[in-house]
Amino acid sequence: MSVVEIVDHPLIQHKISLLRDRNTGTKEFRDLVSEVAMLLCYEATRDLPTEEVEVETPIALARTKVLAGRKLAPILRAGLGMVDGMLSMIPAAKVGHIGLYRNEETLKPVEYYCKLPNDISEREVIVLDPMLATGGSASDAITQIKKRGAKHIKFIGLLAAPEGMKALHEAHPDVDIYVGALDEKLNDQGYIVPGLGDAGDRIFGTK
Ligand code: PRP
Ligand code: URA
Repeated sequence: MSVVEIVDHPLIQHKISLLRDRNTGTKEFRDLVSEVAMLLCYEATRDLPTEEVEVETPIALARTKVLAGRKLAPILRAGLGMVDGMLSMIPAAKVGHIGLYRNEETLKPVEYYCKLPNDISEREVIVLDPMLATGGSASDAITQIKKRGAKHIKFIGLLAAPEGMKALHEAHPDVDIYVGALDEKLNDQGYIVPGLGDAGDRIFGTK
């Protein structure tokens, strides 16, 4: 059974409220995206596989646990904003990139780049994108990752529309989904309502 979770921790709710505010500037927005990614990462990685190691403490030998292998794949461009926060929690993760943008008329994703670590089939893969709107971009990105052999995939997003949650879960029922908030709906332009606007533009200051 896969997990579909709205991670409504008070810290996440607080930071998402600041992200929604149209008066939040680029630097603060970028910092907040990174912080929320870090908090979501904490919840989404509860069941990551660990392996036992031996370390010498100042007192004695300890048998203790460390994380086994893992990978990150941000969906360009807005997913890049979540990478630093995730890497601060999982510093040794390898990072692949999937470039997708939505065609503004059809709202269908258009792929323009894909570079993933080679041994993706043996590892846990965490796909990052702040916005799950129609769900088309996340579904396509995960299809690309599966084509390269990945079997253990999680998706982490900041905000989702009900339409996107449903579409992603139906397209990839084996993928665990973690988001910070589930909003009301999509508008006619495919934007999440109330949402936070265009995540990529707000992270990179392009509008
Ligand atoms: C945004 C967002 C997602 C996608 C979500 O990217 O970062 O990738 O839209 O929409 P969907 O669920 O309907 O596919 P956008 O296409 O604006 O590209 P950008 O990240 O380059 O700004
Ligand atoms: N992409 C965004 O950046 N924002 C939305 O609300 C929907 C898609």
